[in-house]
Amino acid sequence: MRLVIVGNGKMGQAIARLAQARGHTIQAMFGAQENLRGQALTPDRLVGAAVALEFTQPEAAPSNLERLIEAGVPTVTGTTGWLDQLARIATLVAERNGALLHAANFSLGVHLFLRAARELARGFAGRPEFDAFILEEHHAAKVDAPSGTARALQARAREGDPHRPYPITSVRVGATPGTHLVAYDGAYERVTLSHEARSREGFAAGALAAAEWLPGHPGVHTVEDMLFGAGG
Ligand SMILES: NC(=O)c1ccc[n+]([C@@H]2O[C@H](COP(=O)([O-])OP(=O)(O)OC[C@H]3O[C@@H](n4cnc5c(N)ncnc54)[C@H](OP(=O)(O)O)[C@@H]3O)[C@@H](O)[C@H]2O)c1
Repeated sequence: MRLVIVGNGKMGQAIARLAQARGHTIQAMFGAQENLRGQALTPDRLVGAAVALEFTQPEAAPSNLERLIEAGVPTVTGTTGWLDQLARIATLVAERNGALLHAANFSLGVHLFLRAARELARGFAGRPEFDAFILEEHHAAKVDAPSGTARALQARAREGDPHRPYPITSVRVGATPGTHLVAYDGAYERVTLSHEARSREGFAAGALAAAEWLPGHPGVHTVEDMLFGAGG
């Protein structure tokens, strides 16, 4: 497939490496300098692209997505911290009969972890002798906090037990690609469920799988639609 990559940071580069190893062609890769407010994403630079992968920064993602969808390019985005703009972007996707897949986390393990977190929350519902909390840790350069995955974890745990707040603590330090945990702490014991990403390659592989899946699937999708089917 011919791919366009928007964002040449750690994720953009990991995706480009893996895409080439899998036989895909990188038609263009856009960095921040040439692409202020999405200005480089013009129809002539995008023509022939099967899919775009957008991994930039929270303030850049909405205008990039607008440009890509207006140009008719199915788009996978993993940028976090912009979901307050999702309703507007979804309207544009519907108007243009476009395709967008967004995910705060493209690793398979994290989605199974989120499901397990909902089940664990159900098990602890109605047990006030335990306090519950979420802790997430990422590399020092990560801009947004809490992470998109931590927000998803909080939402999923609240589905299992709507009566707990599940407060989130974010740590930004060192080089870790991402660790998330939810814990139930009682006077005599603690139960912890955690997910630890070992490298960015897992995210890049998931994003490429999404890019391979998205053409032919109009509308706005999450990575769960791809992994488990709609409503799964
Ligand atoms: N969904 C997932 O699985 C997943 C996994 C990891 C990370 N992420 C998210 O993906 C995003 C990128 O992560 P990262 O680790 O690659 O961060 P990063 O290394 O900081 O890279 C972000 C890149 O985006 C570039 N950029 C900013 N505005 C741009 C624009 N308008 N057009 C093109 N490029 C632009 C930046 O360029 P400059 O350096 O020149 O400013 C930078 O190179 C973050 O939101 C992160 O939270 C998601």
